[in-house]
Order: sequence, then structure tokens, then C-alpha cells
Amino acid sequence: MTRGGRTAVLALLLVSAGGCSDRGRDPIAPGNGTAPVSYADDVQPIWSAHCTGCHGGTAGLELGAPDSRTNLVGVASANWGGVLVVAGDPAVSVLYRKLTGDSGVGDRMPQGGVLGAVDIETVRRWIAEGALDN
Ligand code: HEC
Repeated sequence: MTRGGRTAVLALLLVSAGGCSDRGRDPIAPGNGTAPVSYADDVQPIWSAHCTGCHGGTAGLELGAPDSRTNLVGVASANWGGVLVVAGDPAVSVLYRKLTGDSGVGDRMPQGGVLGAVDIETVRRWIAEGALDN
């Protein structure tokens, strides 16, 4: 194969890999552009789809609507030290660290799986934008 051909195949692979990870959702994370990520419309649906099976009572942290945001923002982690969501600072937020598999905070969440890149980016933007109640 020619050099140009290989580059074209690689570009195609990258495009299709990106296309697969959105699993039917808009591949552009909500809030891109001017509108901030909405907690109710963009973040809570992620918890409801991937987390409340365990975090609806049994795993301690309640992530069901309507109290999930109150249970996260500024709340000390029960298990790992630090705070679950530090508004404006995803990197130190235990929640975000557990979604990205950071070391020092136990299992990656959702336990036994991995969130899609678009969902992780939605959560990151929500925290970076101030963890708004919107
Ligand atoms: C299969 C069950 C299961 C699923 C699904 C799951 N979790 Fe968990 N989660 C647990 C268990 C058990 C713990 C306690 C152990 C630990 O802290 O790692 C936990 C702990 C946590 C903690 C730390 C709580 C604290 O106070 O320290 C966070 C944050 C968290 N989960 C977020 C999530 C999010 C967000 C999702 C969905 C993307 C999710 N989890 C999905 C079982 C689950």
C-alpha cells in the first residue's frame, strides 16, 4: 500500500471509531458552543441510564432525580477522601476521577463498565462550568 493509502485508511478508522462511541447520541457533547451543559437534561439522564441500578439505594450514594445534584456538589466522599464534585474543578472531583479510572479512588465507575467518551466529557463540562443546577 502506498503511504497516502495508509494515511487514508487511518483517517477512516479514526472517523469510524469516533462515530461508534456516541451510541446514537449527538457526537458533540451538549453545551459545546455557548449554552452550558444542563444538569437536568444532559447529566441526570447519564446517571439514570448507567448508575441508578446501584446508586438508587444499595451503593450508598443516591443518584436518582431530584436529589442527585445535592448529594454530589460539595459533599465529602464517603470512601476516598476529598469532595465528590468541586464546582469548577473536575480534576480534583472524586466523581470525575472515578469516571476516568484515576488511581487512588477505588473502582472506576460505573462499576464493571466504562462510560462513553461523550458522556464523560458532558460530566467534565458540567463540573468545569460550575456544576450548575440548571
Ligand atoms: C454495579 C454497581 C454500580 C454501578 C452501576 C455504579 N456504581 Fe458507583 N459505586 C458502587 C459501589 C459498590 C461503590 C462503593 C465503593 C467505591 O467507592 O468504589 C460506589 C461508589 C461510587 C462513588 C464514590 C462515593 C463516595 O462517597 O465515595 C461515586 C462518586 C460513584 N460510585 C459514582 C457512580 C456513577 C457516576 C455511576 C454511573 C456512571 C456509578 N457510580 C455506577 C457501585 C456501582
